[in-house]
Amino acid sequence: MSTLGRLVVRGAIRAPGDKSISHRALILAAMCEGETRICGLLPSADVHATAAALRALGVSIPALDADFVVRGRGLAVLHSPESALDCANSGTTTRLLAGLLAGLDGRNARFEGDASLSRRPMRRVAEPLMAMGARIDFEGASGHDGLPMRVRGAALRPIRFVNTHASAQVKGALLLAGLASGVEVVVAEPRRSRDHSERMLMARGVALQCDAQGVTLPAGQRLVAADVTVPSDPSSATFFAALAAMADAGALRLEQVCLNPTRTGAFDVFRRMGVRIEVEDAREVGGEPIGTLIVSPAALQGTHIGGVEIPRCIDELPMIACVAARAAGETVITGAQELRVKESDRIRAVVENLRGLGVAVEELPDGMRIQGGTGPMVGHVATQGDHRLAMAFGILGALPGNTITIDDPGCVAVSYPGFWRDLANAVGPSSHAARAPSPPAPPPSAPPPSAPPPSARAPLVISIDGPAASGKSSTAQWVADELDVRHVDSGAFYRALTFVALESGMAPDAWTPERVLTSAHRIGWRLTARSVLPMVDGLPQDEALRGSAVTRHVSRVAAMGPVRAWVNGQVRAAGAAVDVVVDGRDIGTAVFPNAQLKIFLIADTWERARRRLVQRLGRRPTDVEIAEEAEALVARDAQDATQSAPARDAITIDTTTVTQAEQVERIVALARATRERLRAT
Ligand code: S3P
Repeated sequence: MSTLGRLVVRGAIRAPGDKSISHRALILAAMCEGETRICGLLPSADVHATAAALRALGVSIPALDADFVVRGRGLAVLHSPESALDCANSGTTTRLLAGLLAGLDGRNARFEGDASLSRRPMRRVAEPLMAMGARIDFEGASGHDGLPMRVRGAALRPIRFVNTHASAQVKGALLLAGLASGVEVVVAEPRRSRDHSERMLMARGVALQCDAQGVTLPAGQRLVAADVTVPSDPSSATFFAALAAMADAGALRLEQVCLNPTRTGAFDVFRRMGVRIEVEDAREVGGEPIGTLIVSPAALQGTHIGGVEIPRCIDELPMIACVAARAAGETVITGAQELRVKESDRIRAVVENLRGLGVAVEELPDGMRIQGGTGPMVGHVATQGDHRLAMAFGILGALPGNTITIDDPGCVAVSYPGFWRDLANAVGPSSHAARAPSPPAPPPSAPPPSAPPPSARAPLVISIDGPAASGKSSTAQWVADELDVRHVDSGAFYRALTFVALESGMAPDAWTPERVLTSAHRIGWRLTARSVLPMVDGLPQDEALRGSAVTRHVSRVAAMGPVRAWVNGQVRAAGAAVDVVVDGRDIGTAVFPNAQLKIFLIADTWERARRRLVQRLGRRPTDVEIAEEAEALVARDAQDATQSAPARDAITIDTTTVTQAEQVERIVALARATRERLRAT
């Protein structure tokens, strides 16, 4: 148990749909002739990349909803796309679609991706496809086997292939290529990779032969459309299993998780480390075993993870490593060199980030050695845009006593867009806010409160922008209180950065964005009952942040572009986690362009000056005083590098002649109407 507070977990989490199954559901629906109804698809960035690529190939894929129908028209209608297929961050999109395209005689496509995907090795899929007769060219520097690559389809030859990397993407690509060209494909697997392709093909009438050695696709197979219900992703559920394992008390229910044995390695590892995981309601849905897991905290023990177990928990290893950092004794991970070619080099990235948090960890060529401990973890995590790193360290950061900031919390959208909100629900505001003992866990017989399904609705974001002294901050807090959501004062983050810059002793004249941001790792945030509160070294520092030294220098800091980008990242992460009212200068335009309600407050300069003076002096100011203050405000407005215009869809409220209570009443009424509208859609 942490010395600073106790974490009691409770409730239920329904992790979003399985990523591997979601990609395959779309691709197979596109290849069939006939209707495929897809329920529970993961609407994440990776899956959107597959949907967009299929559309570019001529398939009509509707908007990715909770329940929708794809009307497939078979392989004959697939054509070469007019422009490159943008696979974004998704290895599965690239490799599976490269396989499909390779088997389509006469068609070709150029595959592109983001910087991370472009670094990932594609020769492993290109080589066997070329051996079958496809033409694949890499366009980068010689020897580079990453994207961009062009795949030219052909009438392929059969292949017998040994899947040495235990890659389900490569296996899936060869099966799709064989299906598209109608030829036999044999894939031998010394270490078994996930078998969703096999299960889904068999459910669509393909006569696959599967055994312990691998899989054989006979020549001339046809696909028949079949509906699919996508179970929850065990890789996403693992984050919350880990949270429950490291909590002090309570239990988490992880609902309707895919329990395919090729995917459940992490749960076996956790059990070995001492975690109690019970399975309820086990059954089969659409050819996949599923069940609800009930995970409770444990005294964790280190373990060894290696060999054939690795492919069964490859995506979960970053989270497992973070749990190991909290276990007694040593944990060793070996045989996991594949981690080096995932969205980041996950061996190096996990080791460096754990080390940065004070954990004793040694990098191995094919894994790592971690010494567990109980000390507080404080530091900044560099995710390299890797979603699984953001979430693994996000879970560590949710433990009492740890203060961990994540550089790119938004990257979770690759596989789990609602992650921060589910995390906030699982830990509850109180266990973070007070850092004091949380309320006792409910008695075991009490039914756990159910968390909403993560993709049911995005958190509500209300932005309140306006010029200096327009009363944004106090109005925003009041509105948040009325609506019972949290207030995010983006200005407080600029103040926190200014405070740590002042504390560093560096002369303000020498401040540059880079120098100011070197201390950003000291800043984190906590959810309190009323707000998202910036913390410096784990403490709120309310008074110091409002002090005159900070006030004198904050506008310079807030005018620095990279600093604004950093603050925007923090504020966006908060808005992705919980319902918020956010105030600032460019919230409705730059930070949350998709905020569901945008307010822009204005007031005439005389009135703004008068209000500011009343606040400062605590009495009625004279006209001369107001006139002087008004001049100063106009000058500040003119100089203000961060002065924003209202977003085009913002509602402007002129507060010159209304009381603050009236302004709040208007905004709350607008917010309630927005909530009703969202509920109805
Ligand atoms: C996946 C297979 C695995 C996994 C990835 C998804 C799939 O990759 O790491 O997240 O859907 O087939 P490899 O095939 O490269 O092992």
